[in-house]
Amino acid sequence: GTGKLWGGRFAGGPSPELEALSRSTHFDWRLVPYDLAGSRAHARALHAAGLVSDADLAALLGGLDALGERFAAGTLQPDPTDEDVHGALERMLLAEIGAEVGGKIRAGRSRNDQIATLFKVFLRDHGRMIAGQVLDLVEALAGQAETHLGAIMPGRTHLQHAQPVLLSHHLLAHAWPLLRDVERLRDWDARVAADSPYGSGALAGSSLDLDPEQVAHDLGFAGSTANSIDGTAARDFVAEFAFVTAMIGVDVSRIAEEVILWATREFGFVRLDDGFSTGSSIMPQKKNPDISELARGKAGRLIGNLTGLLATLKALPLAYNRDLQEDKEPVFDSVDTLEVLLPAFTGQVATLTFDTARMAELAPQGFSLATDIAEWLVREGVPFRVAHELAGACVRRCEELGIELHELTDEQFATIDPRLTPGVRDVLTAEGSVASRRGRGGTAPDRVREQLAELRTAAGAL
Ligand code: ARG
Repeated sequence: GTGKLWGGRFAGGPSPELEALSRSTHFDWRLVPYDLAGSRAHARALHAAGLVSDADLAALLGGLDALGERFAAGTLQPDPTDEDVHGALERMLLAEIGAEVGGKIRAGRSRNDQIATLFKVFLRDHGRMIAGQVLDLVEALAGQAETHLGAIMPGRTHLQHAQPVLLSHHLLAHAWPLLRDVERLRDWDARVAADSPYGSGALAGSSLDLDPEQVAHDLGFAGSTANSIDGTAARDFVAEFAFVTAMIGVDVSRIAEEVILWATREFGFVRLDDGFSTGSSIMPQKKNPDISELARGKAGRLIGNLTGLLATLKALPLAYNRDLQEDKEPVFDSVDTLEVLLPAFTGQVATLTFDTARMAELAPQGFSLATDIAEWLVREGVPFRVAHELAGACVRRCEELGIELHELTDEQFATIDPRLTPGVRDVLTAEGSVASRRGRGGTAPDRVREQLAELRTAAGAL
């Protein structure tokens, strides 16, 4: 034998070139605790099936625990000749408790069902972690929304002034998609928790009468996989996870882009906290929104991880193929990326200082109250098509005169059209405009206060 997992059939060991290519311990070592948990459950299943004695089970569990302790202490390291985490841990178990007993653990399992199961458990743990971090960001947005209830800003479409809105309304519009991302993680988790691939073996299942349901329950799954080929070959759970992490990155990038814009001199809407912004090595005056820029950049990377993974899976024949080992690095990267990005981003959002006076001053500018004129005319009985036309004429007149809508005199209004009586002036404030949008989902202060409570209730239920 060669000392490898597959020694018997091979006269010689692998070439160094193959070893270098094949090795995955530099990235799959983080799965050690998950592989050990799987092995404990599997040892108990072997015992329950009568294939391992009480004493052997105790020895196996003791050996696995010892490896777990060494891993926790940071002293468990793979050898350069170890191919992957599974092979390395089996080699170490044998060294720990002897080849006689240690050699029993591999019965009825394959690295193919091992890795499919462990990756699910790993991703479930990190899915919960990321969900918690996203909820922290939701709360940071909600906190800012609460602090600034009543503050008015220019609402935009096409990045042009459109209609005044509450700053809180705008901030909450970023919170809702993030809440849906958390829901996506929960949906995903319920789907993944349904079936554990352990027991699928290499692809065809096991002849040893092991109980995959028992292993599944030990590892926190509701049940075991119905099809052993599917259990070992499917990676849609990885792709779906990668999608949700990419979606989170994209949703965060949309906030990031606005923070970057808002922090410019031209906008002047926000000031960044010193702890969450950076300076320049040459320009002493600089205060840069690096966290938001990194968020924007990392969204691209998260998308890349998803698309790379989908490309790996495309047209891959059943069942296990070694291509599937390529599923781990991109998704580990997505996990690491979000877990370091989200706390920083949340800190940046929570510590933003808004210049609400400047926002309020700009809110009615750029003729953003033109719709209010049109809707006032509609309430006066004018058909909207005509009202739109008349409000447009007001804008044109203002542009000629270089003034804003509320600066038109009663005579100027009357000259444009006699139906534009002085009463129109009542709607020509940003406050009046915002307060008038009082239907559900609208930007009126009362609605936004309710919306904030609704968001927090929804977040609390997750
Ligand atoms: N390390 C592999 C993976 O991540 C699991 C090992 C299966 N290898 C094999 N030759 N069947 O997919």
